[in-house]
Amino acid sequence: MELFYVRNGTVNDYAMVFVVPVPSKIDTLHFTWESFAGRPLPYSISVDVTDTIALGHPKLNITSTGSVPMSLQTFSVSLPCSGVISADVSVTIQVNITVMPLNITTLTFNRKKICTKMDSHLGNQVHVDSLSKQYKSTNIFYTAVGCAIAFVVIIVSISLVGCYFKNQKLMRTGKANNTQAHTTYLTSAPRNPTSTSSYGSFRRMPSYSLIDERSKDLRERIAELTIKRCRVNLNSVILEGTFGRVYLGSYTNDTGVEEEVIIKTATDHASQTQISLLLQEGMSMYSLNHKYILTILGVSIEDNTAPYLLYPYQNYSNMKVFLQKCKSNAEGVAHTLTTQEVVDMALQVIEAMQYLHKKHLLHKDIAARNCIIDDKLQVKIADNALSRDLFPSDYHCLGDNENRPVKWLAIESLLHKTFSASSDVWAFGVLLWELTTLAQQPYVEIDPFEMAAYLKDGYRLAQPINCPDELFAVMAYCWAMSAEERPTFSQLHVCLQDFYAQLIRYV
Ligand SMILES: *[C@@H]1O[C@H](CO)[C@@H](O)[C@H](O)[C@H]1NC(C)=O
Ligand SMILES: *[C@@H]1O[C@H](CO)[C@@H](O)[C@H](O)[C@H]1NC(C)=O
Ligand SMILES: *[C@@H]1O[C@H](CO)[C@@H](O)[C@H](O)[C@H]1NC(C)=O
Repeated sequence: MELFYVRNGTVNDYAMVFVVPVPSKIDTLHFTWESFAGRPLPYSISVDVTDTIALGHPKLNITSTGSVPMSLQTFSVSLPCSGVISADVSVTIQVNITVMPLNITTLTFNRKKICTKMDSHLGNQVHVDSLSKQYKSTNIFYTAVGCAIAFVVIIVSISLVGCYFKNQKLMRTGKANNTQAHTTYLTSAPRNPTSTSSYGSFRRMPSYSLIDERSKDLRERIAELTIKRCRVNLNSVILEGTFGRVYLGSYTNDTGVEEEVIIKTATDHASQTQISLLLQEGMSMYSLNHKYILTILGVSIEDNTAPYLLYPYQNYSNMKVFLQKCKSNAEGVAHTLTTQEVVDMALQVIEAMQYLHKKHLLHKDIAARNCIIDDKLQVKIADNALSRDLFPSDYHCLGDNENRPVKWLAIESLLHKTFSASSDVWAFGVLLWELTTLAQQPYVEIDPFEMAAYLKDGYRLAQPINCPDELFAVMAYCWAMSAEERPTFSQLHVCLQDFYAQLIRYV
């Protein structure tokens, strides 16, 4: 999956700078394109290869000049190896599009086709070896991802002249739809009485392995963590929703030592369902022990009152709130985070996620709102208990009763409600975007109901202002359409650590 944004005639070429390897077994590249200009735009296209013996002549299934179609259409470039000799052949595909008379935009795609000699059975073997060597190179992340790219449709969104207007329109209709969608949902959305699943119920599914100690049932876990209510003091409210509350308070342990704690609880208006969801989600990271994970300290359940969930407190705040404060601090001067700080924060999240996945646990709701951060930019990931209530604009119902973090969900989670390590990677990409935008709302102009179609059309979050291309490339890869193409957290770790090393070298 590659993304090209051509906005108002300017090519955003971060994705074009990579030379993408094409494995020998892939013979055809597909490109999908569409003109949003409101009229067909003239194009000319050429394909050049450096070695016509190994590759032969590439074939296009469109004419070398013509007009960019007004609807989404696919064309293909076939690159069949001759099998005569082995070679890495550079392929340059150039498309010139005449936006206006005398104004031509040139798009250049560079590919490296790997051709192997076909005379022995070892051919394939050698090919695999040479690929795995590339995986081991320092450029591991780009190479690994690059290989995968060749399998997929490449969407070129050519939104030249018409783009500005279209976006304006999209924004307006998007907003209109939004309010409409909300009102229709509140008044007449068909609720499906047979569906017993809620977003919360995904957590109850055995996403983690059953041989794990974690398979202990909730009751048992709660029993182990139960503390007496009289040992807890609530001091001040830090965050408040319609039924959920987060307090700063203190807890006196068995030895009489008092420690500061954060208490998540609910008000008297909370329903039974909301309370059991609070417990369920609050216990999801129970018994984990990692420096970048916030683990629950204790639970207090007493008759006829909402439960208290206690977490250790060391001067941290909610990351989303923290980022928003950076943007609008009292002096009116935004404290922007440096790229180095952002990468460092991202690396902490990655390490926490590597640990979580090693424990066969999926988070399913990675986002700035579900992390905490202190003044020294030490990050911990937390559970998502109460987040739906405290950050209501981050969750949406799509016509059912599931309040889901739609704008953070991977395409397959959105469409089929499936979750995997790769869907956590997708959400991590959105978190990275939040870090670089100081917690802007992702896809703010897109109606939640339109998200799946929007993603399927190949659109993604745009590159934030001041976000380096390297960092945006990382995000974009997290949002690859197919889960297998997305990087793993280990690859992300290698990649961002390299990037971090480069950054400090030049400081
Ligand atoms: C081409 O069009 C773009 C966008 O309309 C404009 O900014 C640019 O100056 C034009 N270039 C030329 C050479 O006319
Ligand atoms: C595209 O334009 C460039 C510069 O104007 C020219 O050198 C190149 O040959 C053109 N390519 C095609 C495919 O027309
Ligand atoms: C070119 O090939 C693609 C994929 O095989 C196909 O979808 C498309 O319709 C073809 N286009 C033309 C103009 O034949």
